[in-house]
Amino acid sequence: MEKIKMDIQALDLFFGKKQVLKNIHLGIGAGKITALIGPSGCGKSTLLRSLNRMHDLHPDARLTGKIMLDDHNILHGNTNVVHLRRRVGMVFQKPNPFPMTVADNVAYGMKINGLHDKPEVRRRIEQCLRSSFLWEEVSGELDKSALDLSGGQQQRLCIARAIAVEPEIILYDEPCSALDPISTSKIEELILSLREKFTQVIVTHNMQQAQRVADYTAFMYLGEVIEFGETQQIFQSPRHELTKNYVAGHFG
Ligand SMILES: Nc1ncnc2c1ncn2[C@@H]1O[C@H](COP(=O)(O)OP(=O)(O)OP(=O)(O)O)[C@@H](O)[C@H]1O
Ligand SMILES: [Mg+2]
Repeated sequence: MEKIKMDIQALDLFFGKKQVLKNIHLGIGAGKITALIGPSGCGKSTLLRSLNRMHDLHPDARLTGKIMLDDHNILHGNTNVVHLRRRVGMVFQKPNPFPMTVADNVAYGMKINGLHDKPEVRRRIEQCLRSSFLWEEVSGELDKSALDLSGGQQQRLCIARAIAVEPEIILYDEPCSALDPISTSKIEELILSLREKFTQVIVTHNMQQAQRVADYTAFMYLGEVIEFGETQQIFQSPRHELTKNYVAGHFG
């Protein structure tokens, strides 16, 4: 593989006494799209959320091992978590725009980061909305409430909001599972268009989606990464029996 942006090494995660991630080793390619697949409850979301330390909010969670972002282990106590989440953004399953205008949603992170120059904010709002394939649809409605957009538009707005702070990595947890097929294909097109510029990791239950967008795919089962490789290899010639059965649709 090319350059590794994030290198997960011997990662274990416990919620209380229950071990949910087991000795995960995974290299996330820079500028690539990596899919995490596997049956419900196998730990996909838990792994994804580890990558920007979302479990910090959970007093029961205990992580050991390393998650190297470039040269820094983000699990180290000296990590500035606010700074980390600026570098590693997240898009959730259910679109969650803030209850404010379309423009303010995109500007939110910029303002928090200290950008107050109005023309520059405006320029970047447009740029992010264009990058998110939303500009054509909302350019006349920037001051409308984001909650009045359709679900698919809201999800593209959440992606616009994520890229507005110029992260290096974007994490998506089943970003299309609440959307219709047309909105889904727009999000897939969007994710593909952000390839190379950002490193992206997507959790999906949709086997076709993984094959359409992902360069690499990791198959997880009961908290372990069973098999990881180029997407085509995982789907066309899986090496592990469990992977074979899962991608053939026999369980999950
Ligand atoms: N906060 C928590 N406390 C205790 N256990 C948890 C917590 N969050 C998740 N788990 C457990 O961790 C395991 C993995 O959950 P996770 O949500 O990562 O699965 P998933 O692969 O994303 O599943 P799905 O496809 O249904 O979203 C499950 O057994 C779940 O019950
Ligand atoms: Mg999940």
